[in-house]
Amino acid sequence: MELNELAEEMAPAAPLGSAEKPSAPKKVFLKTYGCQMNIYDSQRMSDALSADGYVATETVDDADLVLINTCHIREKAAEKVYSQLGRLRKIKAERAEHGREMMIGIAGCVAQAEGREILRRAPVVDLVIGPQTYHRLPDALKKVRGGEKVVETDYAIEDKFEHLPQPKRSEIIGRGMTAFLTVQEGCDKFCTFCVVPYTRGSEVSRPVAQIVAEAEKLAAAGVRELTLLGQNVNAWHGEGPDGSEWGLGRLLFRLAEIPGLARLRYTTSHPRDMDDELIAAHRDLPAVMPYLHLPVQSGSDRILKAMNRRHTGDDYLRLIDRIREARPDIAMSGDFIVGFPGETEADFEATLAMVRQVRYAQAFSFKYSPRPGTPGADMAGHVAEDVKDERLQRLQALLAEHQRDFTVGSVGKTMDLLIEKPGRQPGQRVGRSPWLQPVIVDEKAGEIGDIIKVRIIKAGPASLFAEPG
Ligand code: 5AD
Ligand code: SF4
Repeated sequence: MELNELAEEMAPAAPLGSAEKPSAPKKVFLKTYGCQMNIYDSQRMSDALSADGYVATETVDDADLVLINTCHIREKAAEKVYSQLGRLRKIKAERAEHGREMMIGIAGCVAQAEGREILRRAPVVDLVIGPQTYHRLPDALKKVRGGEKVVETDYAIEDKFEHLPQPKRSEIIGRGMTAFLTVQEGCDKFCTFCVVPYTRGSEVSRPVAQIVAEAEKLAAAGVRELTLLGQNVNAWHGEGPDGSEWGLGRLLFRLAEIPGLARLRYTTSHPRDMDDELIAAHRDLPAVMPYLHLPVQSGSDRILKAMNRRHTGDDYLRLIDRIREARPDIAMSGDFIVGFPGETEADFEATLAMVRQVRYAQAFSFKYSPRPGTPGADMAGHVAEDVKDERLQRLQALLAEHQRDFTVGSVGKTMDLLIEKPGRQPGQRVGRSPWLQPVIVDEKAGEIGDIIKVRIIKAGPASLFAEPG
């Protein structure tokens, strides 16, 4: 089949209702691109579709609905959507010849950013739905079945959290012992390279009571590790039960009281929002894992200024010193952009120097991709593609060296392991270390959901191997 690679890449976002329902259920092929927020949103769409009688399928071949949850962060990610739609057009046409229908929906940030333009460029699409309106998905599909083309991108973002479908207990368990929980959405930072403030809208925090209630429900269903999500998660703020102003640090202190929740993580953070209480949460709460994704993007003050990051390289390094003082074993993770407009060799070398100082355990690095409508796209001094390529290679080689050092440095260490699922090989189980490293153990070491002490005996290319320690 033509969309083999789609099917191969696809991991069902969530176990939709089982396929054993009496009348042939409608089937949805749901493909997710992009960040954890999209993975979380796909789970929510799955919940809404499941309630509407859909079951998941892992191939496009027998799908009644193909739904692509898209990412708009870089041009490559956005263009992928259109190349897939070309292939889907053929499959849909073949289907139609046999009198069978296939609906095609585009969700996510490309949907939000391009809206009706998608229908113009790809008339094969039936539905365009933005991230803030997924609760309207069943209604939108009803309209599509009635022969309409539907574009759902208008929203009052405050509504969004009010309409979260409530996943069933069995579904939570099916998703494993770890869960995401969105606490914040959107961003007001307006970094000059970034589309998020336009696609996800301005910053909205979910109220404390809602977050605590959902976290309690997840914990009661067996979830051991909770990752709080937000595009700018540490900008989260709310009002505590006594009317006082809470930041993310205070929220972590509250969530750490929930019985059963052994591990707390949060992503993605902005350096400007790392306040004292959040750093104290890393110091005082064993449940807050010693891993922090804190993107800096560049090590050059000139470029940081042009990016509107509103901090210097030195501010960032001093912040990391404070975080490491609070939690000496913390592993740092980051994001980098090379070839932002105006970036010289000296600017790029400042980025390499910063990487050498921080020694990231994990990092993501990208070539600058001009996004229409963002200030960066109109700046002077765009960097040639071959220069971007060369810089990215040098940066990635350095990051890979540090990452490897971090992995190899784990051998011989004793640590806690949360066993998450069966491993690829029979007789194995796989879990995560506190530093997010995948760790493989013998299945006799413990049950899924257990947190056990292990000793790392070997580092493979993608995972660590451990024995009970
Ligand atoms: N070009 C390249 N990388 C980008 N990112 C965001 N926007 C762009 C862009 N226009 C990267 C940043 C961000 C990560 C999610 O994606 O590093 O932190
Ligand atoms: Fe984009 Fe993050 Fe900057 Fe917000 S803080 S504009 S999400 S890069």
